[in-house]
Amino acid sequence: MSIIFEKESNIISLNTANTTYQMQIGKYGYLLHLYYGRKLNADMSYLIQSYDRGFSGNPSDTGEDRTFSLDALPQEFPAYGNGDYRDNAFLMKDADGTFGCDLRYEGHRIEKGKYSIPSLPAAFANDDEAETIVITLSDKNAGVEVELKYGVFERSDVITRAVKVKNTGKRKIFVNRIMSSSMDMLGMDADMITFNGRHGNERMPERSHIGDTALSIGSRRGTSSHQHNPFFIVCDREANEDYGDAYGFMLLYSGNFFAETFREQYGSMRIMLGIQPDMFEYPLDEGESFDSPEAAMTYSETGFTKLSHSLHSFIKNNIIRKPENDGIRPVLVNSWEAAFFDFNAEKILKLADDAKELGVGMLVLDDGWFGHRNDDFTSLGDWYVNEGKLGCSMGELAAKIHEKGLKFGLWIEPEMISEDSDLYKEHPDWAYRIPGRNFIRSRSQLVLDFSRKEIVDHIFNALAEVIDNADIDYIKMDMNRSITDVYTGDGVQNYGTIMHKYCIGMYDFIERLRERYPEILIEGCSGGGGRFDAGMLHYTPQIWTSDNTDAIERVKIQYGTSFAYPPVTMGAHVSVVPNQQTGRSVPMKTRTAVALAGTFGYELDLGLISDEEKEEVRQGIADYYKYNALVRDGLYYRLTDPMKNREFAAWEIAAEDGTEAVVTIVTLDTHCNSPVNYVRFKGLKADAVYRDENSGKSYSGAALMSAGYPIPVIPGEYNAFVLHLILM
Ligand code: DGJ
Repeated sequence: MSIIFEKESNIISLNTANTTYQMQIGKYGYLLHLYYGRKLNADMSYLIQSYDRGFSGNPSDTGEDRTFSLDALPQEFPAYGNGDYRDNAFLMKDADGTFGCDLRYEGHRIEKGKYSIPSLPAAFANDDEAETIVITLSDKNAGVEVELKYGVFERSDVITRAVKVKNTGKRKIFVNRIMSSSMDMLGMDADMITFNGRHGNERMPERSHIGDTALSIGSRRGTSSHQHNPFFIVCDREANEDYGDAYGFMLLYSGNFFAETFREQYGSMRIMLGIQPDMFEYPLDEGESFDSPEAAMTYSETGFTKLSHSLHSFIKNNIIRKPENDGIRPVLVNSWEAAFFDFNAEKILKLADDAKELGVGMLVLDDGWFGHRNDDFTSLGDWYVNEGKLGCSMGELAAKIHEKGLKFGLWIEPEMISEDSDLYKEHPDWAYRIPGRNFIRSRSQLVLDFSRKEIVDHIFNALAEVIDNADIDYIKMDMNRSITDVYTGDGVQNYGTIMHKYCIGMYDFIERLRERYPEILIEGCSGGGGRFDAGMLHYTPQIWTSDNTDAIERVKIQYGTSFAYPPVTMGAHVSVVPNQQTGRSVPMKTRTAVALAGTFGYELDLGLISDEEKEEVRQGIADYYKYNALVRDGLYYRLTDPMKNREFAAWEIAAEDGTEAVVTIVTLDTHCNSPVNYVRFKGLKADAVYRDENSGKSYSGAALMSAGYPIPVIPGEYNAFVLHLILM
């Protein structure tokens, strides 16, 4: 039993293999947070100390007792309106315009298995893998009931949370703020690590001390965004990869989100994660309800490596739904950086021939195959094949590629519309624009109102027509701008609901694709990694990590991404040098080594590379097949921090039982008469000897982990060294 309710003390404990999360139904029915951390079997309510605090009000039922104030107590789901003035997890407005409510415990139920959430991504589990507790709180005067749902994943040390709000009264109410997860932690001086960036430079870790000034991140872009990821870590000030208390929080949501941490006046720390409250207002009529997205959290008592291992396992086993017949995924070549918009079938077939000769398994036709799209100013929304440009139908092209023994993939961007399109001529009101106001273009395109089912239906049907008439194995679903000018022409005036409904419409679109084409592998993308989140991974098992394919920049991007997301989810391709985004030249061996730490592929004209590079491509593909099982199932170790160590970067993927490991080292700087650098490996068996299959040399596991491996000093920039260690 992972969930235990102790009747005498009113304590609810959620236990995973190594963690305990504890709450208490406190005095007057207020739900208090007691503890989250190392697994223990103890009543943690002694941690709560109550004093008469000035300006911290007391609920009327406390009478003369001035020591009970929600302004000072650690809460599980703090709502505005009952005396807690801190930033809250729940704010509702009554029909009369007044704010607030007073939520008290009503009851709870414990169930086998894992709850699901209507229309939203949620982790799944077998009945023997997870347990659920649903705690009901209510305020009868305000006419609101709240269900706090917790899923407990014993093996992966993960706990999920989600909230359902129901209007149980007669009057309309409005949900103005709803956090999926909120927690008040006692006695912890901590840092928050967020993963921030920009287009082409996503998920760069930034560590800040959590003080009395709130730290917050979020998105108002309609996607989770390149700028901030809906994942963060809260940890001991000294925590590192192998040491210290570390908590990871992620939201399974791909739209506007908000995360905040701060230390409050009496020293406890509030940690919140949920939908972005800005521009959010969700009306509920009598009997209606609203479901929040799901948050997931984990705790590690030994730093970030264990935290990542728990989240990687959880994402791989409980979030991602793989396509049917999912075997080893084929190495792909994508036409984008090879040809951009300048192609016809002949050129694509030539790329397929060159790719096939080198061992590539799939050709992906990227942007530019529809409407009259020869640049990025036009045709989004016109999802009919430009047979004039291609010189054949999509069915014929797909068949020719299959005849060559390659699979065939296609790029789509369903959520978008170009003003220069037939669709826009016919339905200008389908794009987000506020009548009578100027609007924002981005990449010269507008966004379709995916909160409206008829628009999703139209786009789905148009694309299904293409897919039904061509044998397609893979889809890359892109999204290339942030959303503005939110307005819907369906007559409903609740603009505060639209960004959330947009996200649901987008999920519905992919879900329909998955249902109709269960064998198609779908890769997510939003100008690279603008929608790289756990919500998206429920629909698309891999996501294009970044539009930046410079291998040295990718070292940092993949490093930051790896804290939450496993390598098998990260789209990583070898591209041409000088790199199209940065102008940097990196040897093919190094570009390959970096891309091998993700879902591997190529993104260049393979007909234009030298014979020597072709040989390296063949070798790279052979290595992909050799290492793929490890990349998919192994444990990922960050051996260096490339944000700090500017000399070299190293990472390792090791089998869980320590029998095999692949270690990759990339030099980041080069010197005359260089000293020797050493890198310590992890996750090996200390008492065993390993043979490096690539050099034939043998090493003791203990030696590699305690004294390290000397990185060879050889001339040249950006060298890569890959060791394939096999237990002897
Ligand atoms: C942005 C993507 O990230 C690229 O890989 C490419 O598909 C372009 N869009 C196409 O427009």
